[in-house]
Amino acid sequence: MLIIWLTLSWIFLSSAQMVNVPYNSCVNYFKYETVEDGSAYMGIFTAPSGPNSFYKWSPTFDIHGHSGIFLSPLMRYTNNNSNDQRGQVFVYFVNIKSELPKLTHLSLNGHTLCNVTGYGRPSTKITVQYQMDLSES
Ligand SMILES: *[C@@H]1O[C@H](CO)[C@@H](O)[C@H](O)[C@H]1NC(C)=O
Ligand SMILES: *[C@@H]1O[C@H](CO)[C@@H](O)[C@H](O)[C@H]1NC(C)=O
Repeated sequence: MLIIWLTLSWIFLSSAQMVNVPYNSCVNYFKYETVEDGSAYMGIFTAPSGPNSFYKWSPTFDIHGHSGIFLSPLMRYTNNNSNDQRGQVFVYFVNIKSELPKLTHLSLNGHTLCNVTGYGRPSTKITVQYQMDLSES
């Protein structure tokens, strides 16, 4: 699944150029990131530090206009093994033309961490979810 997805995304992402990055009002838990040579964009979520080992993530992104899919599924981010970063997940932004999607809402384990106004119409919202239990790994 991941492999197929990455293959597809390479096709979509390989033509990425300079894009507008929306204001990030959730800097404590979210950051935009450029992949390697700037050919792709991702968003990385970091959980608040604490004793949790169960994480249920649910971010919502908004983009101007009527749009198709602009997010990958949420996936576990394993590039960083340091302890306070272990609860990280990420998305790839796909089919991006001139702007990255704006994070308008983020909930973790049912609690709202960030919530800002999205774009007016026409705009397209996508919510993705991911659950992980670090006590099992
Ligand atoms: C990895 O963890 C370190 C220390 O917590 C942090 O400074 C760094 O930004 C992290 N790297 C990524 C790619 O998240
Ligand atoms: C987000 O904020 C708006 C406006 O303040 C509010 O109406 C809405 O209920 C909030 N959503 C959540 C999930 O907290």
